[in-house]
Amino acid sequence: MVKVKAGILGAGGIAKVHTANLKNDERVDIIGVADIFKDKAEALAKEAGEHVHAVESLEELFQLGVNTVYVTTPNTTHVEPVLNCLENDINVFSEKPMATSLAEAEQIKEAAQKSNGIYNLGMNRRYAYVYKKVKDLIATEEVTPHMALFKMNRGELLNPAWTADPKATGGFLYETPFHLMDMCRYLFGEVEAVKCEARQNISEAELDDFAILLTFETGTIVTFVTSAHSGWSFPFEKIEVYGKYSTIETEELEKVMYAPGLKQKAEIDDYFQVPFEEKWGYIEEDQLFIDAIINGTKQPVTAEDGYLSTQLLESIYESARTGQQIDLRSVSRSSK
Ligand SMILES: NC(=O)c1ccc[n+]([C@@H]2O[C@H](COP(=O)([O-])OP(=O)(O)OC[C@H]3O[C@@H](n4cnc5c(N)ncnc54)[C@H](O)[C@@H]3O)[C@@H](O)[C@H]2O)c1
Repeated sequence: MVKVKAGILGAGGIAKVHTANLKNDERVDIIGVADIFKDKAEALAKEAGEHVHAVESLEELFQLGVNTVYVTTPNTTHVEPVLNCLENDINVFSEKPMATSLAEAEQIKEAAQKSNGIYNLGMNRRYAYVYKKVKDLIATEEVTPHMALFKMNRGELLNPAWTADPKATGGFLYETPFHLMDMCRYLFGEVEAVKCEARQNISEAELDDFAILLTFETGTIVTFVTSAHSGWSFPFEKIEVYGKYSTIETEELEKVMYAPGLKQKAEIDDYFQVPFEEKWGYIEEDQLFIDAIINGTKQPVTAEDGYLSTQLLESIYESARTGQQIDLRSVSRSSK
């Protein structure tokens, strides 16, 4: 079997998770780990295996002969290495966000179309157990989603300090809320119209409270709230989906309740005991990416798909800024 020769760029928290998954996949050899701080690269290289090299740049990973790179650097530093990989026909798994502007997301989409390398965007929640259950109930038409409520909060933008700096995050929505914006499209299809009221309440640098109304092409309507300073009241992340006399309700990535109908008992799936790498979807997204490289199957989240989620996020900012409803039907969806 020809093995995938993987390199990791950015040896921080999420890189540790992907590295452990790749180490457990016999189809993958981890060749090198790069970080601007050599000691960080060395520490993760050691965890990755005996012969894994520690280097300081993407170019050095290329020199080691990798054919696949995981880009796990901070939010605003994904685009340059991703484009570099695609131009060199290297497969690339980019952590979210894809980019922190629509123009850059478009650049990646175009580069991915031309490249022989596979692009994948890491949207782990699509494979998180609670959301797989929601997706399944909708896909099997057990629930027709007429309306939904989404909440994705942060407790503060104090720790770590860079979360308060839009130059580092790309803007609050590009931090955590991007996950559930992508989830909306994944569950309900494409968005037709976006209306958002937002405020800069606590943050010194940016909008930090958003009340969003999304109308989908299917007719489903979603209210989406996201606050950056709610003080970590549990659960920070929650969705409720309403069908005909039925409700699906999630609590973090831990628990999902399905109430199928009047006078029927509800089912609860509780994943509390399941290791987080598994229940948060990281193991499956990594396996599917490696499947795509080795077997030619479709990667979990293509550049076209990531572009559309970025477009949704940007239209929320645009509505917040202009006070206007944004009609996404009038925006080109040529990439669909
Ligand atoms: N999908 C998820 O659930 C999830 C979870 C956590 C983080 N993330 C995303 O992953 C990315 C990394 O997050 P993290 O929490 O691991 O951050 P982190 O700060 O722990 O790690 C980032 C690492 O990248 C290194 N780095 C910075 N610039 C670099 C460069 N130009 N070249 C090489 N190395 C560089 C830093 O030294 C650091 O070691 C972020 O974009 C974040 O949004 C996704």
